[in-house]
Amino acid sequence: MSDQVLEKTSQKGGEARCPGEPTTQEIIANDKVKAPGWVCSENYEFMGDEDISSDRYIRADYAQKEYDNLWARTWQFACREEHIPEVGDYYVYDLGRYSFIVTRVADDKIQAYYNACLHRGTKLRPSNSEGYAEEFKCPFHGWSWNIDGSNKDVICEWDFPHVEKEKFGLPQVRVETLAGFVFINMDANAPSLEEYMGPEFMAHINSWGLENRYIALHVTKMIPANWKLNMEAFMEAYHVIETHPQVAVSNGDANSQYDTYGEHVNRFISTLGVISPHLRGQYTEQDILDQFTVGDSSVLAGADRKLAEGETARQRMADMLRSMFSAAADADLSGVSDSEILDCFSYTLFPNTFLFPGISLPMVYRFRPHPTDHRQSLYEVFFLRPVPQTGPRPDPASPIHLEPHQSFKEAEGMDPGFGDILDQDTENLLLQQQGLEASAKPGITLGNYQEIRIRHFEYAVDKYVAGK
Ligand code: FES
Repeated sequence: MSDQVLEKTSQKGGEARCPGEPTTQEIIANDKVKAPGWVCSENYEFMGDEDISSDRYIRADYAQKEYDNLWARTWQFACREEHIPEVGDYYVYDLGRYSFIVTRVADDKIQAYYNACLHRGTKLRPSNSEGYAEEFKCPFHGWSWNIDGSNKDVICEWDFPHVEKEKFGLPQVRVETLAGFVFINMDANAPSLEEYMGPEFMAHINSWGLENRYIALHVTKMIPANWKLNMEAFMEAYHVIETHPQVAVSNGDANSQYDTYGEHVNRFISTLGVISPHLRGQYTEQDILDQFTVGDSSVLAGADRKLAEGETARQRMADMLRSMFSAAADADLSGVSDSEILDCFSYTLFPNTFLFPGISLPMVYRFRPHPTDHRQSLYEVFFLRPVPQTGPRPDPASPIHLEPHQSFKEAEGMDPGFGDILDQDTENLLLQQQGLEASAKPGITLGNYQEIRIRHFEYAVDKYVAGK
């Protein structure tokens, strides 16, 4: 028996790591500009190794339970504060059959209403719309509400003596803001957003300054797969060597780090500028540097890519990206660590949001179920860039809605290399949805470490769907 197999059989579930390779923390510890505490920490916990049932991805009745027990009880990212900067600005957030008007009612107060008239139910504002309102007036018979939700007018009031206007305010959902994000929750009894996210994550997000970012690019696309499959495609780096071979040369994929925080947050850290363990020994440091790509490759145009003797690709990339992103964003990044400049940090906020607080890959993802088809889901990619230090704050980019057959590269402003990656990530999903429906096996099998985020996420799904 080989040493490797002996080692494996003597380990408990979840203890094994990519053999013979530096850990993410060891790679980061060698950086020149040191990383802060939220980077230099680990929080993995083994959660079992049973299969996860496939019903959740393929059954319409499961999706209905999610509407009733999961979506109705969880905090969800509805919009950014920058979408509604002035009193009267509103943004319609739709979630399946649900729809909400999120509006600023005072400089320091945001409220959200069920987007439905209290007369005969007509939506007060169309789905996916946004704008400015002095009142919310129903397009059918003209009942209207003030932006604070109080009833303003009932047409032919003489015919509605049974309607007490003071009791006909628009029903509200809870609203809280965090780091420039506006979250809503339909559940009056849900914990606060801070309690829901947990103390570890709150310490992380409060150090990122995401409130000082703006939406530079927003792309949406309907994907032919259940929303949970769509999300899970982005929860691990295990797929990189097979799905994205063009970036594996400069991506520590099999030695990425995975962490869980409470019930609702998990993350990975995937180091860049280092060789994939799958390709160890096949490429030089110069090769790694030459093949490195980043979310916005235009910032590297014209850069000197010749390494000096003993210099590492990772250090050169961190130095180059720091100066280039500083210039591009008119921002001072001198105190930002190499890891934050370079690496991919991916956090899932249950149920449907990913935050990437790094500098080179500054995305937010949001996933929503299709209103009537559990086999489709809406995938949204936002790029959040630092607000320039001078000049007015840029307006948030309007969404670019791609058709299902279009490439992400067709979205104006999308880096072609990153568009390729998103295409590769999403092209597997139809096959996965169809394969799960065709399978003789009733569940999916997960790796103990590299796929812990999926198990952690699905355990939370199970808990909510069970009504716990
Ligand atoms: Fe809205 Fe009649 S349905 S006023």
